Amino acid sequence: MCGIVGYVGERQAAPLMLDGLKKLEYRGYDSAGLALQHQGINVIKAQGRMDILEKLVHSREHVGNVGIGHTRWATHGKPSDENSHPHCDCSGQFAVVHNGIIENYLELIDELKSSGQQFASETDTEAVPHLLSTMWQGDLLSTLMAITPKLEGSYALAVMSEKSPDELVAVRHDSPLAIGIGDDEYFVTSDIRAILEHTRDVIYLEDGQFARLTPRGVQVFNSDGQPAEVFPVHIDWDSEAIEKSGYPHFMLKEIMEQPDALRNTIAGYLAEDDEIRFPDVKLDAGEIKDISKIFLVACGTAYHAGLLGKHLFETMLGIPTETDLASEFRYRNPVLQPDHLVIVISQSGETADTLAAMRESLRRQAKVLAITNVVGSTIAREAPNVIYTKAGPETAVASTKAYITQLAALSLLACYVSRVQDNKWDKFKTLLQGLREVPHLAEQFLDKHKDSVEKIAKDGQHWRDAFFIGRGLDWAVAQEGSLKLKEISYVHAEAYAAGELKHGTLALVEEGVPVIGLATQQSLIDKTISNIKETKARGAYVIGISQFPERMTDAADVIIPLPKLPDPLMPILSVIPTQLLSYHAAVIRGCDVDKPRNLAKSVTVE
Ligand code: G6P
Repeated sequence: MCGIVGYVGERQAAPLMLDGLKKLEYRGYDSAGLALQHQGINVIKAQGRMDILEKLVHSREHVGNVGIGHTRWATHGKPSDENSHPHCDCSGQFAVVHNGIIENYLELIDELKSSGQQFASETDTEAVPHLLSTMWQGDLLSTLMAITPKLEGSYALAVMSEKSPDELVAVRHDSPLAIGIGDDEYFVTSDIRAILEHTRDVIYLEDGQFARLTPRGVQVFNSDGQPAEVFPVHIDWDSEAIEKSGYPHFMLKEIMEQPDALRNTIAGYLAEDDEIRFPDVKLDAGEIKDISKIFLVACGTAYHAGLLGKHLFETMLGIPTETDLASEFRYRNPVLQPDHLVIVISQSGETADTLAAMRESLRRQAKVLAITNVVGSTIAREAPNVIYTKAGPETAVASTKAYITQLAALSLLACYVSRVQDNKWDKFKTLLQGLREVPHLAEQFLDKHKDSVEKIAKDGQHWRDAFFIGRGLDWAVAQEGSLKLKEISYVHAEAYAAGELKHGTLALVEEGVPVIGLATQQSLIDKTISNIKETKARGAYVIGISQFPERMTDAADVIIPLPKLPDPLMPILSVIPTQLLSYHAAVIRGCDVDKPRNLAKSVTVE
């Protein structure tokens, strides 16, 4: 959510900023801007996508070896030129980019206005440059340190000033920020993919830390102003992974990468001898045996992965399990005990609500384990136990390969707990066998059926409402399928437990309404099919997704057949056609698939 990139070095900052911001555009894309230091501060910013800013920057020469840039996802103040970052004080001597929310900005602005400051935007951020100018201490970093006690909320800030022209200063408070270390050049960014082309050595700032970047080096300070010990990490992401590599959209590329993402995640933990090893899980056998309750806490697509986890832990392991939306969990006063395990799931590892829910669980002394895709993310660093999904960088706002690897990680975790608890291990051995096969089956499915799913989705041009139905695990996948369709194609979609339809929603089914019927669970197949038939009898256009296509001939208008796997693993396969349907429906409707309106990839504000 919003992206920051800053540069200090010998090169021209403008092209580096533009390039970095393009890589961050997936985080927020309603406006963008940059500020360069050259005989004063020169700010160029505009509402709209990055190409508008790019044209502006290219319309004349912009020099400067120190710069900060920002791509915005509006929170305070509508998208507009004025509300775009960077923001300056009245004299234009300080420029600031900000991710997060300054919660007490109205009070700060009132105070600053009464001392004569004039404001040019409706943002919370603008309070910061005005504070810097009114509280100037003769040194940029000391001034930033002096103003932060006045700020409430979350912030990652990068600041420059013509009073100190060869440096950038930055601070991190509940919003991620990292420093990139190059050869006599340094970067600051909220997301390392902006700088990967230039350096792979980064320092992740801890909460409360400050940094000063000059062409001579980087200094990091703790919140008390004392120099901090830092541990640069080397990032080994392949830069190809953050390019579209010939695909029209990141989302399609990421759907097609799913077999490899599964392969990497499963092979990363499951050894030839069926041993599962999670190197970053420190819980000992005694603690695992004692787990009396599990909570799965997450947002968005990751929450839907949690729904599947509930089935695995509850129905297969017999451990009472709850799935919670992180934004609810953190405020609902959850009853937690030391023998409860809270599993937070987050692709980015930065989602504000998930992070807060995790911190709350730790405060309440529950055991905590995080499933995340990003090494070095805040959740990964703060969680005492971590399982990394190995999906590689995910760029499309709509999560696909991260979700599928979360399902694999949860399945592996269920097997691991079962083994430690000595709980129905034989049943789990079949699951392990299925997990070994699933990357290949996903690949086969994509090869064989991706074109036919595209044909089915052509009809999506006319869809207004759609229903995804299923029972048990199919219902969990239905919820993810319906989210995917609405977020990228803007078709109103709802997911229903198939058995619940006749208690109200069936009234909405009329001639031609698309119903995506998921019927993959052997144990529930007859009941699910009869619910699907109820919609067909009311005129629905039924798209059936099943590993038993022969059973669906009377129930569906078109059938997408799936390879066979044990029931608990079917979601890993059955979600793929729902992703493809949503993707192609969005493309045919002319939607901006990778950057759907109003959404952002990483939601670092509440
Ligand atoms: C945003 C994204 C979703 C994602 C959710 C949770 O809403 O658009 O795709 O599922 O955040 O993100 P996380 O990084 O915590 O999995």
